Amino acid sequence: MKALILSGGKGTRLRPLTYTGAKQLVPVANKPILWYGIEEIVDAGITDIGIIISPETGEEVKSLTGNGDRFGASITYILQEEPAGLAHAVKIAQEFLQEAPFIMYLGDNIIEGGLGEFLNNFNQKHLDALIFLRRVSNPSAFGVADVDPDGRVLQLVEKPQDPPSNLALVGVYYFSQTIHEAIASIQPSTRGELEITDAIQYLINKGKRVEARELTGWWLDTGKKDDLLEANRIILDTKLTPATQGEIDDSSQIIGRVEIGSGTRVINSSIRGPAIIGKNCYLENCFIGPYTSIADGVTLIEADLEHSVVLQQATIDGIHQRIVDSVIGRKAHLCVAPRRPKALRFMIGDDSKIELA
Ligand code: TTP
Repeated sequence: MKALILSGGKGTRLRPLTYTGAKQLVPVANKPILWYGIEEIVDAGITDIGIIISPETGEEVKSLTGNGDRFGASITYILQEEPAGLAHAVKIAQEFLQEAPFIMYLGDNIIEGGLGEFLNNFNQKHLDALIFLRRVSNPSAFGVADVDPDGRVLQLVEKPQDPPSNLALVGVYYFSQTIHEAIASIQPSTRGELEITDAIQYLINKGKRVEARELTGWWLDTGKKDDLLEANRIILDTKLTPATQGEIDDSSQIIGRVEIGSGTRVINSSIRGPAIIGKNCYLENCFIGPYTSIADGVTLIEADLEHSVVLQQATIDGIHQRIVDSVIGRKAHLCVAPRRPKALRFMIGDDSKIELA
């Protein structure tokens, strides 16, 4: 059994962060999203992992993630020149996959455990495909499955106007080698992509064994800002182990579950967990509220923030209003000029969103 993680794509919904970096490397609770998937896969006992990368962000993914040693796995990187669809990614990975059955995992998704249990199910029943579904309130925004009471998939429809169920496909699939024949037989969709739903539908039409299981734990697709904040909230809630390194002065207060990295200095500040502060940060006269992740090398002076994610080496200085529900990019600099002018002065990247609430 092998695994194929898709870490290419355009990431348009997470602009402007994705102009300068891969969305799969955006940190959730200070760990790249992609690494959660790798860890889940290794936990399920699969250590031969291929990762699809794009020409724009592939080098960054490779250099940060490495050859797999840190996960106890072997990672092969596969370059996809164009984001031509999920099924296209499988097609170009055929040399790596050979005849092996495999898990396909979308690199911007995080799910709560259980891959191993489903894997046994897939193997024992000799399925051609096993897909995962989750009940959603807005099925028209997803690929939707029509499933019989025994778990057999009857039909898949991409973003249907009239959904046959409220069961949406989530970003994990198990395939036998028959998927390659299916992908070779389909044509690009109207949006120009080779769709994995079309390939699975081909298997269903050919009478192959395609089943679905409903996920009951959480599943997070971090493709948009609010989803990313929600992923951050859930991971901090469920996985954070409190640990304090660095220097915290006597006038600071640390309340609840908080992790603080080495080399970080906290001066006259309150941090209320769950929250994580990376390495080599500097915090002075700050309030950091729950569900906040501060990456390495961040400087916060007279800042008040909660339910937010701050990326590496950003600086926030003297913003007295509370910053909430925000994602602040790498090396971004938010400050108030010393004489507090009545005007606002900005230098903001393309596709940024500023909301003076
Ligand atoms: P999506 O989130 O569906 O696509 P995207 O990354 O292009 O994002 P957006 O819609 O915001 O523009 O992709 C799901 C995952 O699959 C994501 O990790 C990127 C990856 N992917 C590939 O590796 N190759 C592809 O051809 C496509 C379409 C996606």
